[in-house]
Amino acid sequence: MLKSLKDCFKLYNGIEIPCVGYGTYLTPNGKTAVDSVKEAICLGYRHIDTAAAYENEKSIGKAIKECGIDRKDLFITSKLWNSDQGYDSTLKAFDKTMSDLNLEYLDLYLIHWPIAKGHENDWQIMNRETWRAFEKLYDQGKIRAIGVSNFKPHHIDSLMQTAKIAPMVNQIELHPGMNQNETVAYCNQHNILVEAWGPFSQGMLFGLDLLQAIAAKYKKTIAQVALRWHLQKGILPLPKSVTPSRIAENADIFDFTLSDSDMLYIDNLDGRIGSGLDSDECAF
Ligand SMILES: NC(=O)c1ccc[n+]([C@@H]2O[C@H](COP(=O)([O-])OP(=O)(O)OC[C@H]3O[C@@H](n4cnc5c(N)ncnc54)[C@H](OP(=O)(O)O)[C@@H]3O)[C@@H](O)[C@H]2O)c1
Repeated sequence: MLKSLKDCFKLYNGIEIPCVGYGTYLTPNGKTAVDSVKEAICLGYRHIDTAAAYENEKSIGKAIKECGIDRKDLFITSKLWNSDQGYDSTLKAFDKTMSDLNLEYLDLYLIHWPIAKGHENDWQIMNRETWRAFEKLYDQGKIRAIGVSNFKPHHIDSLMQTAKIAPMVNQIELHPGMNQNETVAYCNQHNILVEAWGPFSQGMLFGLDLLQAIAAKYKKTIAQVALRWHLQKGILPLPKSVTPSRIAENADIFDFTLSDSDMLYIDNLDGRIGSGLDSDECAF
């Protein structure tokens, strides 16, 4: 039973990962990023999710340095952007991310998307070359865990044809209204931890009136019910907010448990909302 933001899921290589990650997509670099990350850490978040593409790694690194918590007690994730896929370019992009974050090691590094723009016909080769660089960085101890993002089962199957190390994490869009049953089942079967991006469907969730009654029943908000639903399914959510009251609200999720029937009710909202992004179609 998870009791706080500091409690962890365990990856198959034994690394512990704090059970809620603080999202930073669309958090502007500069004062907003520094202040909101420090606020989150002060409220107990220990896991920060960023990416080279978010262009806020420098401010996140500054917040990490200034927050007063030991580096070893934080879990920092970043992601390799699509245009940097390939063996040499991955090693170079990793160095830039580490220099921007001003860190000695990264806890988790993810391939951001399986199919990069311009590589619709050779994405399998690109992912395998990128992964070879990930494995090298992992073997060198520069990254504690490696994984993928937005990968469907067939993308992982392709990667595994040459991989020496299996991904430890798959970060995908997942929230009430979008269950991703097939990918989740595949990841569970292969000991890959699922992380949920867009746990509030990037704000769309709050328009889903069907969740209001459940939130009222537990005297909680829709955001809190959604995060509980993820945790009770064994999925690690990555809520993003730059608003202090919401950062606190999204952390206050350890004093209630959704009943089996309410979990099922939320499961049955599958298909109602979502970004509409399909990682086989959208080449960025
Ligand atoms: N791997 C990928 O491809 C990928 C893609 C997208 C996102 N991500 C990661 O996943 C994280 C979360 O996804 P996301 O940022 O797209 O969307 P999200 O967390 O589902 O939603 C964020 C939105 O919800 C608002 N919000 C947060 N808490 C709230 C609350 N308690 N009540 C009302 N509104 C609330 C935020 O507003 P304010 O900030 O204004 O408070 C923001 O507009 C990202 O930040 C990023 O780290 C990864």
